[in-house]
Amino acid sequence: MKESSSSFPHTTLAFARSGRSFVATEVDDATLAQHARQLRDWYNAAENASMMGGATDLDDTDVRAFVRELRASGGRWFLLFVDDTLVGDMDLRCVTEHSAEFAIMIGATTQKGQGLGATFATMLHVFAFRDLGLERIYVQPKRENVRVQRLERSLGYTPDDSPEALSHADAGDDVITMSISADTFRAGHAEAWANVDVS
Ligand SMILES: CC(C)(COP(=O)(O)OP(=O)(O)OC[C@H]1O[C@@H](n2cnc3c(N)ncnc32)[C@H](O)[C@@H]1OP(=O)(O)O)[C@@H](O)C(=O)NCCC(=O)NCCS
Repeated sequence: MKESSSSFPHTTLAFARSGRSFVATEVDDATLAQHARQLRDWYNAAENASMMGGATDLDDTDVRAFVRELRASGGRWFLLFVDDTLVGDMDLRCVTEHSAEFAIMIGATTQKGQGLGATFATMLHVFAFRDLGLERIYVQPKRENVRVQRLERSLGYTPDDSPEALSHADAGDDVITMSISADTFRAGHAEAWANVDVS
């Protein structure tokens, strides 16, 4: 099915931190096509693939199909730019009236560990809780993915083994199920809550 460029919201989140401009944006098909090769290479890199879906042989078409399917199911997928340079992507998936799952990738080894993931994750949680009105977000990091667990714990996530949290994990995956409520997130991120710009 061909996706028209108007068939999903074109939201942009903007935030300034440490003198840098952070922009997360829902791009149209033409812009996605421009960046699909870079995303493909990042998705396929072993250090990312092992922490995400696992596949290392994706092509550009797979990247575009992933985005199309995510959007068709109500997901919200954003490209991430720091000072106009593409650094990764993030999304809300399994979105309901009340909840969603969160996923993120900072693609390049050289860009990791500098706070970019934490800043973009904060922006998306502001959008999800403040602007979409969600009540809870779930994650299921792989047990060995210490870095994303640290990011999620610093956002305010705590372990959650409720039936709903467990339902977000695939049977047999060695993951930790965690969640965060809107109130917990807001209490810990007042500055971002007030200053993330949504257009
Ligand atoms: C996980 C990921 C998004 C984190 O983004 P990042 O920009 O590298 O991380 P940040 O610099 O914002 O740091 C986030 C936390 O990880 C910690 N961290 C950074 N580098 C780390 C490392 N090498 N090992 C362990 N923790 C590390 C930071 O200290 C911070 O924790 P803190 O708030 O307790 O100090 C990024 O590394 C990534 O894309 N990894 C591959 C894909 C992936 O794992 N995605 C998540 C599954 S959906």
